[in-house]
Amino acid sequence: MIIAIDGPAGAGKSTVARIIAQKLGFLYIDTGAMYRALTLKALERKINAKDIPALIEMARSTNIDLTNNQDSSLKILLDGRDVSSPIRQPCITRLVSDIAKLKGVREIMLGLQRKFGKLRDSVLDGRDIGTVVFPDADKKFYIDAEFSVRVRRRYKELKELNQDVTLKDIEKDLRNRDNIDSTREFAPLKKADDAIYIDTTSMAIGEVVNKVLSYIQ
Ligand code: DC
Repeated sequence: MIIAIDGPAGAGKSTVARIIAQKLGFLYIDTGAMYRALTLKALERKINAKDIPALIEMARSTNIDLTNNQDSSLKILLDGRDVSSPIRQPCITRLVSDIAKLKGVREIMLGLQRKFGKLRDSVLDGRDIGTVVFPDADKKFYIDAEFSVRVRRRYKELKELNQDVTLKDIEKDLRNRDNIDSTREFAPLKKADDAIYIDTTSMAIGEVVNKVLSYIQ
């Protein structure tokens, strides 16, 4: 069984996807983390974000693997190294949308995401799961929230990771990423026609989880 959860950054989809996967005993696949791992490698290799052939070549020769910890949180391996924590750094967040918009990079990630999703029953979260990666997913959700609420949630999340950020930084980052992710040419962020839309603006995480579970069951 494949459950697809899409939506913009900060809407709560990763938390919901992880809890759902844990409750159902499914594999949790955070596809954004895969683009983040590639971005980390590009930064480490000092590959210019405008050097598209070099980025595609790098993606082709990169080994990305993922597993889940006991609590279903994601462990992501970049060429065998656990990068679960460094991929959350602000320098990655700032650059990731520019790398994720490249067609050649997306094609490589698409193959991997489909491979992971076919291994086991899975919950995938991302931007194009219900539209492109698994258009035949058993259940599709589009999780959204008002912009100001997404900013506050992301701020709280990053503060918990001890990151030195301001609300203004987050606001700027989310606006920029929303814009790149939803206007890019290939696989833009979009609700699939058959996805269930959930506006989480005034919902607590537990309520969202219950709502998603009620549709699945
Ligand atoms: O969900 P996130 O913030 O970790 O995602 C990081 C970036 O990756 C986000 O800006 C958009 C991109 N992404 C994508 O293009 N397609 C996906 N399926 C998942 C994420």
